[in-house]
Amino acid sequence: MAGNVDTTIKSGFAGRLGDVRAAIEARLSELLPESGNERDLVALAMRESTLAPGKRMRPVLLVLAAEGLVEDGRENSRTIRRQAVDLGCAVEMIHAASLVLDDMPCMDNAALRRGQPTVHLKFGEDVAVLTAIALLSRAFGVVATISDLAATTRTELVEVLANTVGMQGLVRGQFQDLRDGQRSRNADEIALTNNLKTGVLFGAIMDMVWLISGAREDQRPLLQNFAMELGQAFQMYDDLRDRCADSDKDQGKDDGKSTFVSLYGEDKVKRQLALHLSSAEQALREVYGDDSTIAGYLRLIFEKAALNG
Ligand code: IPE
Ligand code: IPE
Ligand code: MG
Ligand code: MG
Ligand code: MG
Repeated sequence: MAGNVDTTIKSGFAGRLGDVRAAIEARLSELLPESGNERDLVALAMRESTLAPGKRMRPVLLVLAAEGLVEDGRENSRTIRRQAVDLGCAVEMIHAASLVLDDMPCMDNAALRRGQPTVHLKFGEDVAVLTAIALLSRAFGVVATISDLAATTRTELVEVLANTVGMQGLVRGQFQDLRDGQRSRNADEIALTNNLKTGVLFGAIMDMVWLISGAREDQRPLLQNFAMELGQAFQMYDDLRDRCADSDKDQGKDDGKSTFVSLYGEDKVKRQLALHLSSAEQALREVYGDDSTIAGYLRLIFEKAALNG
């Protein structure tokens, strides 16, 4: 009997996750249509790099986080779900742009991304730079045209994203990672870089969720706590994966760089990762209660992290 109950819960969760993923894939494809002109390499690279098989963790989190705050059947629940999918697609485009740039020879000089040749190798560095710029612009365009939003909310969403990409966020984080990562750094310095290059995008996701769902004021800092703990955990997870062979991207790109793995060693990083994850789960419980779908998704993402290994 217990086995049957487990299976039911699992397939319910898997089914819901499948629906969310399918909605995101379909909308991304709509927002980045084929140009019909095979010489339009930037349009092709925008579509290919974004639709390539990534985890879609950021848009999935955004949709699950929004759905969890809006009761089923609430008058505007379908509208909020549609807005969440579009915001998730915008975030995924920003993420894809950051990966295209991150892989370039002047940055991490990577050959493989999401199991495919990196954009600059396939299309050239000129196309890679233009693709990243075009994806960022497209992301802002998507946010600007989401319907049924109050003008003030739309402006706040744009502001959140602008802060996330720019010198308060991804750009500063990437710059610190590239330049300061060459020298030895203490734990606070590494944590700050990881927060900027990875955490702030999760922070933006949770702020956008808060803005569109009309959630309570006191839930905003809890959602931010979750995002920052997740950012730290996820960059540690990613740095550990830099040494794993079963990856869909290059390994060893962090060799010689100061990261938590080089500072602490793998075992301590796994323990720290588990602590961040547990703080992230605690923040989720305070907002969503026990056994939320989003908490289930978080466990799924980190399943392979072998935290106790
Ligand atoms: C990789 O992100 C870059 C980091 C911020 C660590 P993901 O591991 O989410 O990459 P995709 O989207 O699945 O390719
Ligand atoms: C990238 O960090 C973070 C970005 C915002 C691009 P990494 O350089 O470690 O990401 P991967 O390992 O190449 O995906
Ligand atoms: Mg990098
Ligand atoms: Mg990289
Ligand atoms: Mg990495």
